[in-house]
Amino acid sequence: MTREATPCREGDHGKFEITERDGWARLGKFHTSTHVLNTPCLLPVINPNIRTVEPREMWEKYGFEALITNSYVIWKHEKLKEKALSNGVHELLDYPGVIMTDSGTFQNYVYGDVEVGVEEIVQFQRDIGVDIATMLDVFGTPDMSKEEVEEAVRETISRAPASIQAAETTLLNGPVQGGTHPDLREASARGMAEHDFAVHPIGGIVPLMERQRYRELVEIILACREHIPWNRPIHIFGCGHPHLFPICVALGADMFDSAAYALFARDDRMLMPWGTVKLGDLKEFPISTAALSGHTPDSVRSLADDARCELLARHNLEVTASELARCRQAVRDGTIWGLVEERSHTNTALREATEYLYENMPESLISATNPLRSGGVKASQDLPTSPPSVAALGRLLNSFESEANRAILISGASGPWRERIGGLVQTIGRRWPDAAVFIETPLGLLPYTLEDVSPWAHLNGPPSIWNSLSLEDRAFDLEALVGEVEQMVELSFSNDKRTNLELIESAFGEGLDEGRSKAELDRQMIEDKICYFLDVERQFAEQLLSGSTFVYSRTHRVRNVHSEDGQHLFSPRMRDGGLSLTLEGARRLQGSGIPTVVVDDDSIPFTRKGRNVMHGFIADVKGDLNPGLPCLLESQDGTFLGHGVSLCTGSEARCFRKGVAVKVRDGIGE
Ligand code: GUN
Repeated sequence: MTREATPCREGDHGKFEITERDGWARLGKFHTSTHVLNTPCLLPVINPNIRTVEPREMWEKYGFEALITNSYVIWKHEKLKEKALSNGVHELLDYPGVIMTDSGTFQNYVYGDVEVGVEEIVQFQRDIGVDIATMLDVFGTPDMSKEEVEEAVRETISRAPASIQAAETTLLNGPVQGGTHPDLREASARGMAEHDFAVHPIGGIVPLMERQRYRELVEIILACREHIPWNRPIHIFGCGHPHLFPICVALGADMFDSAAYALFARDDRMLMPWGTVKLGDLKEFPISTAALSGHTPDSVRSLADDARCELLARHNLEVTASELARCRQAVRDGTIWGLVEERSHTNTALREATEYLYENMPESLISATNPLRSGGVKASQDLPTSPPSVAALGRLLNSFESEANRAILISGASGPWRERIGGLVQTIGRRWPDAAVFIETPLGLLPYTLEDVSPWAHLNGPPSIWNSLSLEDRAFDLEALVGEVEQMVELSFSNDKRTNLELIESAFGEGLDEGRSKAELDRQMIEDKICYFLDVERQFAEQLLSGSTFVYSRTHRVRNVHSEDGQHLFSPRMRDGGLSLTLEGARRLQGSGIPTVVVDDDSIPFTRKGRNVMHGFIADVKGDLNPGLPCLLESQDGTFLGHGVSLCTGSEARCFRKGVAVKVRDGIGE
């Protein structure tokens, strides 16, 4: 397959944009003058002296859009240096994609004899035409004293200005060092972020990965992630084992590089998505790749050394490429956390790292996660510890309020619950209006008013999960949602309506005749959804809905919500239980607490026409923008301009310069 590189458009050089995301995990495009690189991606390491697989094949056959080689190795080698300087590095390697070079830092760490100047090595990388160069950082190792690591961090930051000047227009890597010390990692990230680097690799981690100290790797990424500008890609230096990709991608990694495919092949070791296996231990291949096609372990073992090494390197490259493709697809599908959980069970060190992450999940990762999940959610993978669930549960606890002093808990079945107990809930509203109804789900108690909201309504799993909540969890949830209740009764979905009514009667007594009407119950449902999805203050929602009326579907679900004066404001969505706003509904939410993007003056005419809000045209953000949820659009003088769905967080809106920030639903017109 011959593929052409696609150079970036003028003015986009060095910009990074997000095209899909789930929490911190993101698919992006990094714009370079040679090629627009799709991320997350892996850059195979090419040794200019020993080429196990030709760079041209990396591009054409395996689809790697970028590679990394070492500028110091080229610089030291007279012939290579001369060729690179006269013909450029792309011709030297015969590779049309993005070429990143390292600076010699790693050689210095391994051999300790690097004699090149800070500016000299950056100038050389620029002169041979690399796309992304690397400054000469100081490698902080895990066994250095804290003072030594601190000095490495300080020295690396102090070299930044001269390196950036030497790079001129060449994009430059600014590595984050700091060893295993979270405070030094943070200081390094903050210090490097102040300079105009294009990419931030996380460095100094190879010795940790060699010893499978994965928990510390997670700690390091957590310590620096939030201090690296969101609009710069993050590269994980020397991380090439496929089983680490899902957790790193979930933590926001955009690039990886690896020599593992070739180094492991030399030792007859094969990379698999779940770990490494020795060729010598295999009777059959547990996975099929094009490289292994027509072979058995025996036939590969009988090959000559060079041929065997090449074949295993090709297999390793294929596995690496396909595991990264799996991660990217999982980000699109909203299943990256499922993949993290799955891979965590393949290795005890990785399991420890994953559990550490679950216990130390950053607030800003949770608030960057869309709580709405499209399609079914596997109950086994959408653990209460995973960010989509935590995001949903956090919103529920923050937004839900009830004056009920009695509670009715129903357990034992998956959704859709309305079909099973819609009638019962209406009777409860009429006879016991001070009772709130909750459904028991594996993620905790769900107020019936949010019965069709994802992820609760779309959890898939065996019947047993619908009775799996412990007594303590139920009591905890109830207390958090409604506080102290005077009375509680437990019902089962497997009972018929009469039996359940008898159970309520025997606990609560006869009740009233004319408590709450269906319209009042529906109004409560819409109010709870407005508070849950739109961050609107409850009093505001209550006032907005006072006197509202509804248009119903044939199955008696609310199709449209109209204000007292007859304006269509909202429509509940069947697909995920969300709320769609009309232009008038959005207008009336101004000042309610709903997240709002203030666009700059240049883009007012476009926003009014309903065109998407692009990064780089945002003047301010009010409230907490949540990717996937609605927001309002205003001009700087506070004029309402329209509404849409945010694709970014507030911190991202403040720094990105490329890509769509808000998918606009409607504008107020010209
Ligand atoms: N390769 C692997 N780790 C590192 C690092 O910390 N710095 C540089 N420049 N290259 C690396």
